[in-house]
Amino acid sequence: MKVLVATEKPFAKVAIDGIKQVLDEAGYEMALLEKYTEKKELLDAVADADAIIIRSDIVDAEVIAAAKQLKIVVRAGAGYDNVDLQAATNANVVVMNTPGQNANAVAELALGLMVYAVRNLFNGTSGTELMGKKLGIHAYGNVGRNVARVAKGFGMEIYAYDAYCPKEVIENDGVKALDSVEELYSTCQFVSLHIPATAETKNSINYSLLERMPKNAVLVNTARKEVINEVELIKLMEDRADFRYVTDIMPAANAEFVAQFPTRYFSTPKKMGAQTAEANINAGIAAAKQIVGFIRDGINKFQVNK
Ligand code: 3PG
Repeated sequence: MKVLVATEKPFAKVAIDGIKQVLDEAGYEMALLEKYTEKKELLDAVADADAIIIRSDIVDAEVIAAAKQLKIVVRAGAGYDNVDLQAATNANVVVMNTPGQNANAVAELALGLMVYAVRNLFNGTSGTELMGKKLGIHAYGNVGRNVARVAKGFGMEIYAYDAYCPKEVIENDGVKALDSVEELYSTCQFVSLHIPATAETKNSINYSLLERMPKNAVLVNTARKEVINEVELIKLMEDRADFRYVTDIMPAANAEFVAQFPTRYFSTPKKMGAQTAEANINAGIAAAKQIVGFIRDGINKFQVNK
């Protein structure tokens, strides 16, 4: 069995060593394609792969078609909007993710971005603190829960809205569960996004929602750029000089944000929420184990294209 680790953004070396060990023990071969710049490199590399481990790498119908031996793709991470699930299903390819494995890393970065925003991008001027401020967690999945846990340590007042998570689960964590997304944005000075990019959520963070946020609003995005309606966010930030946006996913309109809002906007140059040794080890090794578990024992617990 040949397992290709295809990561444009590489894992830490310790994670690769861990993945290799899991695969060695199963008697599988590991191939590594990192930092590739052309799709052709990926198409060539998948040709003889039985399994692929990816991160945000695009696995579309063309990649699936080029991978003639492929049985399983594991996205070492949470969001699988980068994989064409229908094409995979049509080709009898199982797709899995590794939910929760990088959640703490992303949550820590979300709080880091909040601190960076309220300390005026560390420019030496007097900022504000997080303690006692209202934080709204938009979607209470693995990352949202970790954000709540870390934010408690900062002494924030925590609210959450999740259409799919029972209120009791949220309230059990000492977080106030709100009834609507509008209420979350109206209540909270800070909102942290943890929704996936789906047909329903794309462009959903728009002017009418964001304008509800109280004075000195801070919007934090460690989720996906596609959920933001960028044109409307720019308009809102033009209309509201108190509104700040910090993101780990560079917007398509990054140059406009930088030019127009130099003191109220920040984007990491490359998504780095999950870019810690710990998260790489957790997600990478989980992916390798899930591949062995599926190929050897048929275990499909984290399959997302059932
Ligand atoms: C995820 O969906 O797990 C995160 O967005 C991390 O993505 P990455 O593995 O490309 O850093």
